[in-house]
Amino acid sequence: MTVLVLSGTTIGHRVAEALHGSGVDVVSSLPSDVTDAPPPGGVRHGGFGGQQGLAQWLRGHQVWAVVDATHPYARTMSRNAHRVCAMLGLPMMRIVRPSWAERADAGDWTWVDGHDLACQAAGQVGAPVFLGVGRQPLWHYHLLPEPVTARVAVDDGFPRPASWQVVQMRGAQPLETELRLLRGHRVMVVRDLGGDSHAAKLEAAAQLGVHVVMLRRPRLPGPQVHHPDEVLAWLRGFQPS
Ligand SMILES: NC(=O)c1ccc[n+]([C@@H]2O[C@H](COP(=O)([O-])OP(=O)(O)OC[C@H]3O[C@@H](n4cnc5c(N)ncnc54)[C@H](OP(=O)(O)O)[C@@H]3O)[C@@H](O)[C@H]2O)c1
Repeated sequence: MTVLVLSGTTIGHRVAEALHGSGVDVVSSLPSDVTDAPPPGGVRHGGFGGQQGLAQWLRGHQVWAVVDATHPYARTMSRNAHRVCAMLGLPMMRIVRPSWAERADAGDWTWVDGHDLACQAAGQVGAPVFLGVGRQPLWHYHLLPEPVTARVAVDDGFPRPASWQVVQMRGAQPLETELRLLRGHRVMVVRDLGGDSHAAKLEAAAQLGVHVVMLRRPRLPGPQVHHPDEVLAWLRGFQPS
């Protein structure tokens, strides 16, 4: 009997480590483009083919519980998993870093729902604009006043205005790096990744007086926890014999 971890994130890797270390049979599902070192336990790659494909996979692999450790903005995978687990009667838990909305400085930022509102809010503050919103949604920002800097994990040559500066950088960075990247900008648009590891960019913005436009997380159904130990405790509640 297997626990499926929908992964592709650092926290998903930590969950797989914790489960594997506790003797749980775990399989991590990674998006096809993830090339990082695989988590311990079993690994599979790529989409399931929507809700039907996921249901088939769960039945075929004797999965008894699902942990959704996808990115807080990966809404399709999370919603599909929630729906399918409810349909099959499988327990599911979501793990996500605690939101930055709880931080003391969260009230200084402009919070928005969606990229068009983020673009509007950043445009009102004015250029230079720094975008840290991931690669896929950048087309929402093409009409921003320039100069614009876009930070992406992978620059695959995605379409963008010719004058944009693109910085390729993966994962959390120390404060010195964030200060270097952000210096000279008036506004930074970012997603609420939460937790401490990615928070240096917020500290850098505060130090440099750069206004923060924060994209709210999508509202996703189901219970959630913040730490791998909480996932283990949850699983112990109904582990099959
Ligand atoms: N968005 C980001 O900035 C970001 C950052 C870091 C990591 N990631 C990870 O990259 C993946 C894709 O992100 P996204 O924003 O494109 O998510 P999404 O819109 O929710 O996912 C799109 C489709 O990709 C497949 N998929 C997503 N996560 C999967 C997983 N862990 N295992 C197997 N298939 C998966 C599913 O395809 P099917 O419908 O065919 O099953 C899903 O419907 C997520 O796992 C996410 O955690 C995303």
